[in-house]
Amino acid sequence: MKTVTINQLHEHDGKEVQLKGWVYNTRNIGKIWFLIFRDGTGLLQGVVVKGEATDDTFEMEPDLNQEDSVVLTGIVRKEPRSVGGYELGIKEIDVVNHVTEEFPISPKEHGTDFLMSNRHLWLRSKRQNAIMRVRHQIVKAIRDFFDNNGFILIDSPIFTGNAVEGTTTLFEVDYFERSAYLTQSGQLYQEAGAAAFGKTYCFGPAFRAEKSKTRRHLTEFWMVEPEMAYVDLDENMTWAENLVGSIFQHVLENCQSELKTLERDISKLEAVVPPFPRITYDEAVKILKDKGSNFEYGSDFGSPDETLLSEQFDKPIMIHRWPAGIKAFYMKRDEHNDKVALGVDMIAAEGYGEIIGGGQREDDIDILKKRILHQDLPMEPFKWYLDLRKYGSVPHSGFGLGLERTVAWICGTKHIRETIPFPRTMTRLEP
Ligand code: 4AD
Ligand code: MG
Repeated sequence: MKTVTINQLHEHDGKEVQLKGWVYNTRNIGKIWFLIFRDGTGLLQGVVVKGEATDDTFEMEPDLNQEDSVVLTGIVRKEPRSVGGYELGIKEIDVVNHVTEEFPISPKEHGTDFLMSNRHLWLRSKRQNAIMRVRHQIVKAIRDFFDNNGFILIDSPIFTGNAVEGTTTLFEVDYFERSAYLTQSGQLYQEAGAAAFGKTYCFGPAFRAEKSKTRRHLTEFWMVEPEMAYVDLDENMTWAENLVGSIFQHVLENCQSELKTLERDISKLEAVVPPFPRITYDEAVKILKDKGSNFEYGSDFGSPDETLLSEQFDKPIMIHRWPAGIKAFYMKRDEHNDKVALGVDMIAAEGYGEIIGGGQREDDIDILKKRILHQDLPMEPFKWYLDLRKYGSVPHSGFGLGLERTVAWICGTKHIRETIPFPRTMTRLEP
């Protein structure tokens, strides 16, 4: 007999099939009972009728518990009123494993902390299943975008000898009688990649010892980082908006049922079509002031500022040309104004905050050396990085897109801890 999954049932209408999965719930109305069943691809209602099912199966209902592992045999029937549009006329249920203790996550409401402590089980629920499926499709969209546009995947290392994004968020680890750091960003290695291949990207975890407990920060998160030789800030922004546009398009084409489960307002997602507004830092500050904010010129935007700014537009916005003092050492300065760094941040729509940080890189070896000294960074670990300016230095740019913030924005989840299978925060290392 053919073993199929719930999301394939439409191909087997009227046929006898086998399904492997778990009990979600049962409902008994006397001569007939219903089994709500899940297999990881969806939910299915099974119908057990006396005479159609074996006697053993018909008598089984009182003994079944949530999360019992079961194999079902039955006939697929079209049933528009049922979840997924099909139901199964069950002939036989084979119990593979019986749950003897009550499953901690019942269909009733639970607090987030309780659910997070049971994350390994919570992943089985419908909403979490939908978020992880959307995440999977976003990852695919990102890979497809770069692979189809001539980028080469160059994996950056996780253990590194130097800081990229400031020294305050470094995780230090013992490394054979010396110190190493978990990477904050793969960017510096992509700069080596871009000089070797033209266009490269890395896609992996990044680590930040964030002491803040905001809904946008994890200590371990995933970032995709493209880097391109002979590309300036403007072209960099075009790559960034096209990447985001293609992610949204892919999700809209492939995740309709997940977005429905998540009750996401699709029209908001459909609006995310490039080009996106590009405004300078100065213009952004003016918008904030006009809205009555007491924002201090020269500082970084906080979450409330970002929300205020994104309310002004129905698309994400790209803020470029920042005060150099609040940006990283590697950023190139504006040729017309040395106080301005050629950085860009993309701020998501609907208040989901900064999802991309990037910019044009300093390509002059002497200026770069001065910056490293000026920021009190040790020169030794940057020797290899400076070589990239010694041999064949060119204008080049890149950016990093945070995966979890993108998933949160697309799925409409308030806190990014629901957008990664096993979140790591200051207070959470388990499960
Ligand atoms: O703006 P960031 O710090 O930029 C960089 O790391 C650059 N070196 C990237 C590059 O140019 N190649 O981080 C980029 C993005 C942020 O916009 C945000 O989406 C995400 O990474 N991010 C975080 N996401 C979750 N938790 C955190 N603690 C994050 N820190 C940054
Ligand atoms: Mg940033």
